[in-house]
Amino acid sequence: MRTKIAAGNWKMNKNYQEGLNLVLDIQKNTQPSDVLVILATPFLQLKEAIHITRYNPHIKIAAQNCHHEEKGAYTGEVSANMLAAINVEYVIIGHSERRQYNRESNEIIAQKVNAALKAGLKPIFCCGESLEIRNEGWQERFVNNQIERGLLHLSAEELESVIIAYEPIWAIGTGLTASPEQAQDMHFSIRKKISEEKGEKLAQNMSILYGGSVKPNNATQLFSQKDVDGGLVGGASLKASTFIPIIQALENDPT
Ligand code: 13P
Repeated sequence: MRTKIAAGNWKMNKNYQEGLNLVLDIQKNTQPSDVLVILATPFLQLKEAIHITRYNPHIKIAAQNCHHEEKGAYTGEVSANMLAAINVEYVIIGHSERRQYNRESNEIIAQKVNAALKAGLKPIFCCGESLEIRNEGWQERFVNNQIERGLLHLSAEELESVIIAYEPIWAIGTGLTASPEQAQDMHFSIRKKISEEKGEKLAQNMSILYGGSVKPNNATQLFSQKDVDGGLVGGASLKASTFIPIIQALENDPT
């Protein structure tokens, strides 16, 4: 069974107290349902956010990154073990902003996935093409290559702990959204790749999220697609008033 997931990626937004207020606000305004809400806060709020949501099985907290080494002289970095030690359960890996601004390669991302799994964390693995690649019509090959190099060294059992987020770079923070058909086509292609390499059962059970300008007014259509199991939301996850309707759209989605 696939889990429906509404994940918020706060990126580098919210100071300490603003972030905790948002966690409280989201918790207060969501009911138990079949949707899992994941909040990827800055490192700063992780511990307290976990404390606030400790009795709520429907809200989980994620980090936005981890280092690929277990420990050592890496100034400014945080390891997967450190996250696991404060009961973080999820970690975003391979976001396009990190691939671009921090020059994270597919190889480093694969190592981060390994480090996360070894520490017992569930990776939210991001992939997605640039506008240039889409205009040239290479998007499926490009994303399949990211999946192959970042994830397919894992066993089917390890992959059960992974969530995939398809985030076309041209749709992130731009207000442009992939059409529901474009999202469905890519999600289908990703699932097919997983199925071919690791088996149909695993592929059918994996949650594949769409990210890129998900808003209250387009969430229903995107989530109605057969292979879209939820969203990874940036801007609209920064306010309960825009994130809650997205969670509700997923709750109401019959697919
Ligand atoms: P926006 O929803 O702001 O486009 O961001 C998407 C994203 O990058 C989530 O990880």
